[in-house]
Amino acid sequence: MARRNVSSSSCFFFFFFIILCFQLKICSSQLSSNYYSTSCPKALITINAAVTKAMFKERRMGASLLRLHFHDCFVNGCDASVLLDDTASFTGEKTAGPNNNSIRGFEVIDTIKSQLETLCPQVVSCADILAVAARDSIVALGGPSWVAQLGRRDSTTASISAANSDIPSPLMDLSDLISAFSNKGFTAKEMVTLSGAHTIGQAKCLAFRRRVYNESTILSSFATSLKTNCPNAGGDDNLSPLDAASPFSFDNAYFRNLVNNKGLLHSDQQLFSGASTDSHVTTYSTDPATFHADFASCNDQNGEPQSAYRERRSDQNQLQEDKLSLITAFRLY
Ligand code: HEM
Repeated sequence: MARRNVSSSSCFFFFFFIILCFQLKICSSQLSSNYYSTSCPKALITINAAVTKAMFKERRMGASLLRLHFHDCFVNGCDASVLLDDTASFTGEKTAGPNNNSIRGFEVIDTIKSQLETLCPQVVSCADILAVAARDSIVALGGPSWVAQLGRRDSTTASISAANSDIPSPLMDLSDLISAFSNKGFTAKEMVTLSGAHTIGQAKCLAFRRRVYNESTILSSFATSLKTNCPNAGGDDNLSPLDAASPFSFDNAYFRNLVNNKGLLHSDQQLFSGASTDSHVTTYSTDPATFHADFASCNDQNGEPQSAYRERRSDQNQLQEDKLSLITAFRLY
């Protein structure tokens, strides 16, 4: 009898302990807008100043920083894994197909990181730097703002295979694009909203040559204008703006382009190709305020554990595992 009492009370404490641990795990993984307000009060202003300076030097850098954040977040969450170089134990994401010779802005993040290490050593994660730099870039180009949720942990590992499989390709059809975003917890509408990021920045000839020379869904005068800089052979790295109308303005011109069959990438035009996402494109093409509001709310998911591009898996167990691995990972690489 006494034995049963001992074992039932130890059971109680065991379960109490498990529940406490579980709650602590969840609490400590939550992001907040004032995460650095005491530990590094100048973090946000430092990031903003560096982004402004980098964009002053090269306007395109805003677009490149936004894409860097997107490619970080689509591969096992926003954990700065995209920044890691190859090591003896893993091959980093930098040389994955969608990234190799394409993603840019590492030196800007490095500069910010070293400035913050001087100001408040070992406090601000690179994943948060990437998120804030992306937001500030959009704001600098006339786009919407939102309150960044902070406190992400940096990963100590990276996955070239996940980068190859999870980052969408410009050759994808609509159904595959919807699946690629749905795998990360996004609806088709949110996919359209986030694709509006292609209202800024540039793409290489290699990424859109097939569309220019082989597709019928491209306005012929637009295709002709692209051919000079993107010949049928050679010139793979030659750049064209994703939105020729206003390449440095975070406006809704991207969607107006799509309605006029002037999408640069095959994947862009797929969003307006007589199928289910047409209505979202049409709405955004005439309503810039709604595009901005939806883009901002995609990036401010009411304090969700991670930013917009964080995997939001439906499998709760997987979500808990994710949170656990984020907590145990080192915050700095
Ligand atoms: C819908 C699926 C998407 C596909 C297939 C795609 C593909 C691409 C490709 C092929 C390029 C040109 C890269 C190069 O030629 O070097 C590009 C550029 C860019 N992408 Fe996407 N992307 C997608 C979604 C997104 C999203 C969701 C964002 C951000 C929220 C984004 C932001 C950008 C930006 C800003 C650039 C220009 C970068 C620069 O000028 O350096 N993209 N994308």
